Amino acid sequence: MSKVDVLLGLQWGDEGKGKIVDVLTPDYDVIARFQGGPNAGHTLEFNGIKHVLHIIPSGIFHKQKLNVIGNGVLIEPAIFSEEVDALRQKNVEPTENLYISKKAHLILPSHRLLDAANEQAKGNAKIGSTLKGIGPAYTDKIARTGIRVGDILEFDFREKYQLLKFQHIQMAKMLKFDVEAFRINGMSLEEYEVRWMESLETLRKFKLINSEYFINNCLKEGKKVLAEGAQGSMLDIDFGSYPFVTSSSTITAGVCSGLGVAPSTIGRVMGITKAYCTRVGAGPFPTELFDATGHTLCELGHEFGATTGRARRCGWIDIPALRYACMLNGVTDLIVTKPDVMNDFDEVKMCTSYIINDKETDEIPFEFNEVEIRPNLVSFEGWKQELNKAKSYEELPAKLQAYLSALELRTGVRIMAVSVSPDRKDVLFRNA
Ligand code: GDP
Ligand code: IMO
Ligand code: MG
Repeated sequence: MSKVDVLLGLQWGDEGKGKIVDVLTPDYDVIARFQGGPNAGHTLEFNGIKHVLHIIPSGIFHKQKLNVIGNGVLIEPAIFSEEVDALRQKNVEPTENLYISKKAHLILPSHRLLDAANEQAKGNAKIGSTLKGIGPAYTDKIARTGIRVGDILEFDFREKYQLLKFQHIQMAKMLKFDVEAFRINGMSLEEYEVRWMESLETLRKFKLINSEYFINNCLKEGKKVLAEGAQGSMLDIDFGSYPFVTSSSTITAGVCSGLGVAPSTIGRVMGITKAYCTRVGAGPFPTELFDATGHTLCELGHEFGATTGRARRCGWIDIPALRYACMLNGVTDLIVTKPDVMNDFDEVKMCTSYIINDKETDEIPFEFNEVEIRPNLVSFEGWKQELNKAKSYEELPAKLQAYLSALELRTGVRIMAVSVSPDRKDVLFRNA
């Protein structure tokens, strides 16, 4: 019986999960997404071409590897269909090596309407949702009113759909949302619905399975499974900066419920962090920089959302948040991405603790959103060198290694690899 290894983000998302999953895929037989949906934007780069995936696992470019969309994932059929078309344009045919759980829930066009209505109703307190319908679709799942992928094969699908859509429109109207004026990609709800319904045909062409049996059988056969996280630990529904979070369990625990595997099957947990920190949307971000350095990180790091195009907020690496994420996930290995963005920096800072009401703490407080948090920063000398000349971790500049050692010391987790460019080839693995 083999184990499920996990790869997930330790910050507020966009740590480089897609790239690293693609790099690790040759070591695995199956790559499986366990939560989230089209709110994710996972970027892969190779042979000078950039690919962005939203719902499809990042192992899809490896033809001989199987990819699974697990029961914990949300599927928006029209976005899924676009993603499939984009792959086909690149001569990748995903129907062969992508299986989809019948238990994955569907995002309806009216979930997206409700997402927009909820955000508008929140006014200044809005979350900055990706407007893909994530919150409302998971709400229906938990309320036991959702529609699942397997339902599209049933005779009463249209009836269920119409009933749910009707309820969503009533709710949006109660929130005083202008349903008539609502647009998705310039289309009215009715226009978009036509496309959405057509795209169900694409979905039907895939192997729709009971993925919990499939994955467990793979493990029994000794196949290696990698679970690919979306979002980040600080966006977790339970432990993130609630309510400025997403609506799923983004941590290792989510792998068990999102794929149907027992806790005892979890193997290595690889946690990814950028060498600095970013966040898109609203919510607390203690190390955020509002100055020229923050601007430089955004520009040099191309910190613009892969799903929404929004500029990401940037700041220094946050150790209290990372330690929290390592604890929640049981991280066994760290992967650090994007130190190359700071190659020209004279100094690089690390937040080692928070000062809250004149008291030092290294814990994330319950009042994370309300209290004023001053980051306690320690400074490191910049390495002032290009990194893509290094052929191994050990060849990285000593000053960067000092920074990385401090990161290991403070999180208590060993770094297994460092990524130094968006390209697949630039990942430096640490000697065992
Ligand atoms: P994900 O959501 O965690 O998969 O991350 P995103 O794809 O949303 O954002 C990560 C961005 O950083 C993408 O544009 C990647 O191409 C890029 N990236 C990943 N690793 C590195 C790295 O080591 N250096 C640089 N400069 N860019 C990277
Ligand atoms: P990947 O997988 C970064 C953020 C949104 C918003 C909050 C709630 O690419 O790392 P939602 O649409 O989920 O209801 O939005 O969560 N968010 C992400 N931020 N990366 C992501 O995914 C995100 N998915 C959601 O910006 O603040
Ligand atoms: Mg992303």
